[in-house]
Amino acid sequence: MEQRLAGKVAIVTGAGQGIGKGIALRLGGQGADVVVAEYNPESAATTVQEIEALDCRALAYLIDVADVTAVRKMVGDVVAKFGHIDILVNNAGVVQIKPMMELTEEEWDRIININQRGLFFCLQAVAEQMIRQVPATVKDACRTPHSFGKIVNISSVAGRSGRSLATHYAASKAAVLSITKSAALALAPYYINVNAVCPGVVPTPMWEEIDQTRTQMEGLQPGESIRQLIESIPLKRAATPEDIAAAVAFLVSPDSDCITGQALNVDGGLEMD
Ligand SMILES: NC(=O)c1ccc[n+]([C@@H]2O[C@H](COP(=O)([O-])OP(=O)(O)OC[C@H]3O[C@@H](n4cnc5c(N)ncnc54)[C@H](O)[C@@H]3O)[C@@H](O)[C@H]2O)c1
Repeated sequence: MEQRLAGKVAIVTGAGQGIGKGIALRLGGQGADVVVAEYNPESAATTVQEIEALDCRALAYLIDVADVTAVRKMVGDVVAKFGHIDILVNNAGVVQIKPMMELTEEEWDRIININQRGLFFCLQAVAEQMIRQVPATVKDACRTPHSFGKIVNISSVAGRSGRSLATHYAASKAAVLSITKSAALALAPYYINVNAVCPGVVPTPMWEEIDQTRTQMEGLQPGESIRQLIESIPLKRAATPEDIAAAVAFLVSPDSDCITGQALNVDGGLEMD
């Protein structure tokens, strides 16, 4: 794989499995040093081993992204080890399938704390470091193509519309789109790009959890909920973690230096807005 990210340091949250793991392997494969920021120590260690097998440097950093103090410490620790941070992929997220009228305050807060609040404070802490890295001579600078940091937030097609069985999740993912636009504006003066990716249906452990719940709730056969959804996808297939990683790789590359505040659906055409 072309070493386009050689010399870059990337933090990928929730990189122990699923989409985050796919992204971490892709960025590592392109030469970046990857921090696997994850709260599951076993899966974090496995991702690190797989990145190292590609002859790249990786670090498992155990963290709950909802813990703002720990997130700020992580930024300091990563800078102490690698010297700088160039890329943040805010991927960690949780879902819960439950009818809207049955949601409790605790359930609402858990999803929002991780998917929305945690994502924002992770972005803020890393952006603070990226701003420090902007050379003083270019702070009011030129309009030539360059970037001093790339941030990609993983939202969802659920953030584009609504979900009666995951109202809190859809709300958190809609908030991610809003945070992406506000952060893109706030960080544009520093030439830091902020964009979002909206996956559609991606078979990962998260999807297994969704399928199991829907199987019980709706009396479906295992795997039926994903099969039904795939039927409604114009390209008639689910996306893979590699499909999402490819979009992220573009958004953290120099090819996207003039793109900020955007959200890219990677969903086989499920949403077209
Ligand atoms: N799978 C899909 O179909 C799909 C669709 C749209 C959006 N997404 C989004 O993509 C992202 C990844 O989804 P996935 O399917 O790979 O999920 P997953 O559950 O398979 O993996 C999520 C990873 O994040 C980690 N994580 C969760 N909460 C964390 C926390 N508080 N701190 C640190 N790590 C934490 C988990 O341990 C796990 O390794 C999520 O933000 C999800 O909402 C997924």
